Formats: sequence, C-alpha cells, structure tokens
Amino acid sequence: MCGIVGHVANTPSQRPREVVLDGLARLEYRGYDSAGIALASGGGLEAIRAVGKLANLREAIDGAGPDDALAGIGHTRWATHGRPTVTNAHPHRSEDGAFALVHNGIIENADALRARLIDDGASFASETDTEVVVHLIQRAYDDPATPAWDGDIAGADEATAPAARRLVAAMRAVADILEGTFTLLVVTEHAPGLVVAARRSSPLVVGLGENENFLGSDVLAFVEHTSRAVEIGQDHVVAVTADGVTVIDPSGAVVPLKEYEVDFASDRATKGDWPTFMDKEINEQPRGVADTLADRLDSHGHLTLDEIRIPEYILRGVDKIVMLGCGTASYAGQVARYAIEHWCRIPVEVELSSEFRYRDPVVTEKTLVIAISQSGETMDTIQAIRHAREQGARVVAVVNTPGSTISRESDAVLLTHAGPEIAVASTKAFTAQVTACYILGLYLAQVRGNKYAEEIADYMDKLAEAPAKIQWILDRAETVRQFARTMVDASSVIYLGRHVGFPVALEGALKLKEICYIHAEGFAAGELKHGPIALVDDGQPVIVIVPTPRRAELHNKVLANIQEVRARGARTILVAEEGDSSVDAFADIVFRIPPTPTLYAPLLAVVPLQIFACELATAKGLDVDQPRNLAKSVTVE
Ligand code: G6P
Repeated sequence: MCGIVGHVANTPSQRPREVVLDGLARLEYRGYDSAGIALASGGGLEAIRAVGKLANLREAIDGAGPDDALAGIGHTRWATHGRPTVTNAHPHRSEDGAFALVHNGIIENADALRARLIDDGASFASETDTEVVVHLIQRAYDDPATPAWDGDIAGADEATAPAARRLVAAMRAVADILEGTFTLLVVTEHAPGLVVAARRSSPLVVGLGENENFLGSDVLAFVEHTSRAVEIGQDHVVAVTADGVTVIDPSGAVVPLKEYEVDFASDRATKGDWPTFMDKEINEQPRGVADTLADRLDSHGHLTLDEIRIPEYILRGVDKIVMLGCGTASYAGQVARYAIEHWCRIPVEVELSSEFRYRDPVVTEKTLVIAISQSGETMDTIQAIRHAREQGARVVAVVNTPGSTISRESDAVLLTHAGPEIAVASTKAFTAQVTACYILGLYLAQVRGNKYAEEIADYMDKLAEAPAKIQWILDRAETVRQFARTMVDASSVIYLGRHVGFPVALEGALKLKEICYIHAEGFAAGELKHGPIALVDDGQPVIVIVPTPRRAELHNKVLANIQEVRARGARTILVAEEGDSSVDAFADIVFRIPPTPTLYAPLLAVVPLQIFACELATAKGLDVDQPRNLAKSVTVE
C-alpha cells in the first residue's frame, strides 16, 4: 500500500528523475490514486504531483524538473488520510520548502501533533498525516536543541556531511515521537546528494549500485539496476548517498549492512507480450508451482525447508496449528488445512489475520502459526504474528518475498517461488502458497513420524504432476474465455464447493469481486439449503466445483446440490474432471480439469476461475491489473 522509491546519483547523468519514475511504475500496483516526485539539486528542491495513475504524473512532468538533480524520491499513493487530490499527494514540503518527504503507513498521533504545530504557528496545505512529519523534521533540523548525531555518513563529502548528520538527528528525533507505522524518505536542499529514511513496521529496502544507490518499498523498485539489496530493520534510520549507505539503530549506533541477492531476473516483473500482468501470471503457474517444489528433497530423501529455526522436538510437541493470512492467502490456508489435518493429525484453525488478535485466541508454546503472505508485508498479518509470538507460539512464514518483514519476524521461512506478482488480484501466488503449505504439511508429517519416507515421496511425486496438469488447463482456456465474454451483463454470481472445493469457491468469488466489480459469493455447497438458495432465481449463474467421481460420497452430494439450484432456474457452470460425464446433463457449460488426488484438486480447479474473472474484466473494459479501490500490498491495518 503506497509505493516509495528513492535514488541518489553521483552525477546528474544517472538521471534520478527517470530512475524514480521507472521505479514508481514498477510499484504502481501498491497504490494508484495519485503520485508525485521530488528532486534535489544544487539549485534547490522541486516537487511535482498529479492525481490518478502514474501516466498523469509523467504528463505533468513532461521533461520538467531540474536537469542537474542528484537525488529523487517518489510516491504512488493509496489514500488513507484525505482524498486523492494534488494537495494531498506526496511528496509533502516543509513550511520553508527546504525538505520534501514521502510516507507509507499511518501516523496514529498525527492529530495531536498537528494541533501542537498549529498552536506553534504552523500552517498546513493538506489533510494528510504526512505533512505533520515534514513540518516536524524541518523544526527538529533547525532546532539547536536537537541531540546531535555525530557518526560517519558513508560516502558523504565535506559539503554534505554536516547537513546529513543534522538530518539524521532530526529524523531520529521525529521518529521517536511518532506513533503508528511508517516508512519515511526525505530529501533536502541543504544536501542534494542525500536521502535519509526511517522505518517502523512498514517496508523499506535499499539497493546497492555502482556510484548510485536506491531505496524502495520492495526490490521491484530497483531490480533493473541492481540485484544487491539491504534489509532495513525495525526503527532503523538510514542515510543514503551515491557512494555509501549508513544504517543506524535506535541506540544511535551504526549497524553492519545485511546484504542479500535478489534472485529473480528483472524481466520477470515486466508484462512482455501479455495483455495484462494477470494474464501473464495465470500462465506462469506451472512454473511457479514447479519452482516452489524444486530441490525440496535432500540426498536421504528427506524434505527440507528454506530456513528453519525451530528445533524438531518443538515441532513434535505442537498440539495446534493456526494458519493466518488475508484475502487470497487466507483461502490458501483454508485449502491447506484439509491436507495438514489429514496427514499430521493436528487440529488446524484458519483465521483471518485482521481478526486473530482481537478474539483473545488460545495460543501457547505448543501452537505453530503458519503465516501466509505473498508480499510478506501485510500489516494485519505482521501484527497477528507478533501477537502469536508474544504468547510463545512459533511462526513459520510462507512468503513470496525474501527479506520481507514477515519472513524476518518468523522462526522459519518457506519461500514460494512464484516470482514477482504484479497484478493486484493474486493468482500464481495462490497456487504457489497452496503448494508450499502441502510441502510444509508433509515436512511436519515426516518430523512427527505420521508418514513413512516412501509415503512422503509418493505424495511429492503426485504433487510434481501438478504443473503439467495446470498447463493442460491453460492450453484449453479458450472455452472459459469464450464463455466469460457472454457474461458481461451478469450482476451476481454464486460459487459453490464442498470439502477442498469450498475455499476454491471463495477464491473464485473473490477474483470476480476484485476485478469485475460483480457481486459474487462463495458458499459451502451443503450450506446452500440453509439460506443462500433463496438468492437463486431464473438465470442466476452458479459456478460449482465438482469433486472427483472417485470420491463418490462427495461427488454425489454435489451433484444433488447442482440439481437443487437447476430446479430453481439457475444456469450452472461446472468445473469438473475430464472424463466425468455424469455432470453433462446438469451443466450449461463444463470447464474441464485433469484427474488428480482430491487434496490437490484446488491447484487445478482454481485456474479456470482465474481465467474466467480475467477475461470477464477484460470484456467489460475494466483495468484488470489495477482494480479500483484496491492495493496489492496492504501495509495499514
Ligand atoms: C490484498 C490484495 C489481495 C491479497 C491480500 C493479502 O488485499 O488485494 O490480493 O490476497 O492483500 O496479501 P499478501 O501479500 O499478504 O498475500
């Protein structure tokens, strides 16, 4: 939520304006209601802002801004405080104009601080919490009473160093009195070759270049320039010049850089020839699942995870698993619950991260929390795992973004190797999350002795067939697409599923809500008769996930549910196994998937639903990748 970019160059020919704009383009999925950029040069600061998508900012800039800029910061916004207007867009300026600041997060004590500043004679141009911060920074910078920071600023020349130290001191003093969450980036005319940043519970990474350095909400901001990234810890302040990065901890001490390599090629974050990122990402699922499965067995045939800092005796003592996530990630948890309970015989609860800590959950040292998140930065999930760890639980993170906050704050990490996901509606992250959770379930079954090694190898072999089966569905996508184009006038769609098909129904309905703006709801097929069936009327589209006929007890019940809605006039759209002809008589159309073990069926059944939503949104002329009101990485609670 909100994308932040910074760049510091050695010479203006490294073009901070273009680097920041390109970085914003890569982060636009984080927010797109307005955008802005500030550039610092020897001649002072210049800020340009525009409402709407980044294209509007590019138009507003149209070559404007100083040609001799040495540093730039940029922001793409998802509004929290104040409507998306030019005056509320970031960067915000200090009263004297000498500082420009961008912010991601929410300052919870902004109203009190603003009132204090107004009493002190300050005036405000915007309704944002951010403007409060930049006013405070200017005052702290100018105030001789601000405690000095007298360490070395790496790469700062004699002209820059004194101003840089003062700005670091001001940033530390202001961060101290702020409550809430923030990533802050500031540039100043006092030291044009410098960006000073701070973070608390919001994302920030630094990219290390040659004679230039970068900052971003995530590595996508700078991955086309460098694959060397540095994690920035909680409550750390960082001073970035073209030739150095100085990270300062809350005590004021300089900490060594925690560098890591970004392991995906920058072209994985571009659209290529695909009409939309969502199209591309749906089609990347065979690779995402295969990459997530790759190299999991060691030479003894034992499953291994990426980073496990939990002793096996603790895993053997686990008496409950809680899976946490938001949106699509929570549905991945719901799918995984069926497999993990079945394999490990441990009770599994699935809880929305945003609800978890408010119901006083029973969590002990014997609870294992599995936190699922594509971005690894979802604030609801971060707060939930913090709560769980305070109660003594161990946390395993299933994340797609190495170095993200959730992975850093967990006891173990299982990476989903889906590659960067840009479309707001999650697709390849979901199938990779489900795959990773299966691996985790089998790992627990191995450690706890619930399954023999050969049984685990057998489960893994069957799972390894999933990428080819997903490809089979993708190769036959035209049937789904053609049908989707006939649905442009639909105003409501019901999704039904039973057993593992139920969370797939929820996920299918979420896709339709997110990108088609059509009211859609997923129900447990058996629950229909307890109320929702009243919604069914002549012509009501009902999409049903049909279980394999090899599980007759499930299959027959779902066929009965299909007949119940058809008897009331519904149009039935079925997702069913290839070869299951028993459904033909009850279907307006069937989307076929290859036969697969029941527990793995969600990896396949979700794919036609993704294609359906993507094509329908396209046919409606909607912005598939950046649907209204949403943001991909939701870094506020
Ligand atoms: C937002 C996105 C969803 C996503 C959810 C969880 O709501 O719009 O697509 O599923 O966040 O995101 P995460 O990064 O934690 O998986």
